[in-house]
Amino acid sequence: MTVTTTYLTGGGSGIGRACCQVLAREGARVVVTDINLQAAKHTLTLLPGGQQHVALAMNVRDRKSVEDALKSAQDQCGAPPSLLVNCAGVLIIAPLLETDDDTWHKIIDVNLTGIFLVTQAFTRSLLENGKHSKGAIVNIASMAGKTGYIYLSGYSASKGGVISLTKTCAAELASKAIRVNCVLPGAIDTPMAASVSEEMCESFKQLIPLGRFGRPEEVAEVVAFLLSERSSYMVGACVEVTGGYRM
Ligand SMILES: NC(=O)c1ccc[n+]([C@@H]2O[C@H](COP(=O)([O-])OP(=O)(O)OC[C@H]3O[C@@H](n4cnc5c(N)ncnc54)[C@H](O)[C@@H]3O)[C@@H](O)[C@H]2O)c1
Repeated sequence: MTVTTTYLTGGGSGIGRACCQVLAREGARVVVTDINLQAAKHTLTLLPGGQQHVALAMNVRDRKSVEDALKSAQDQCGAPPSLLVNCAGVLIIAPLLETDDDTWHKIIDVNLTGIFLVTQAFTRSLLENGKHSKGAIVNIASMAGKTGYIYLSGYSASKGGVISLTKTCAAELASKAIRVNCVLPGAIDTPMAASVSEEMCESFKQLIPLGRFGRPEEVAEVVAFLLSERSSYMVGACVEVTGGYRM
């Protein structure tokens, strides 16, 4: 049996960590990357089949870091990864009039440019592998990218960009046997969500028909499905995982 290698960004926490756990449970070899290497290494300790998985430091904003990490993954796994989850992200809450240039650029760099850089490097390495180039990519966007959200101008814009980048990559790469889709989580209980004020969380909860935040693994199960052949006819889809928020 061939073991599929899945490459994840932001695998040291929250949704990314849950994706690593679900994918490892399904038999994948997982390359956990994160800007926080300690956190990525901690994820490794939570995975079944520990020896075969790899943890790497990578800053998605930095092209050299992105290319070096991918090369290292390829060397350690003996072949380029064929599955990719772009999960690294940052949330910075700021009213429009108080958003300074540095804040704006940081959010766009990590959440949007990061996906561009990692997807480009991943796709190049996969295609260089010739006839074994079949692959799948899942980008983690957000419902904020579709609906916008108060005090999240940079974050919402970055995630809207992820949605359109997903569709464009999907259209370009389908003929090369690489399917690209994205997931739009609503509010999910992770360290990122914990940075939001109680007041904002409560007002958000009122808008969720299920009446609760989602669990990271509830997003991860959808990611695993989109990476698998079970979703072989899905291309450029944006799957909402929201408990019914703004359905
Ligand atoms: N939690 C939510 O409610 C929610 C909702 C919608 C979308 N999302 C998206 O899901 C993804 C994961 O979020 P989460 O809630 O698990 O957050 P999290 O903060 O728990 O995890 C984010 C991870 O990304 C890593 N990261 C940050 N900057 C990085 C960089 N420059 N390079 C590499 N790694 C970096 C962090 O170290 C962290 O491990 C993000 O893209 C986020 O925008 C989250």
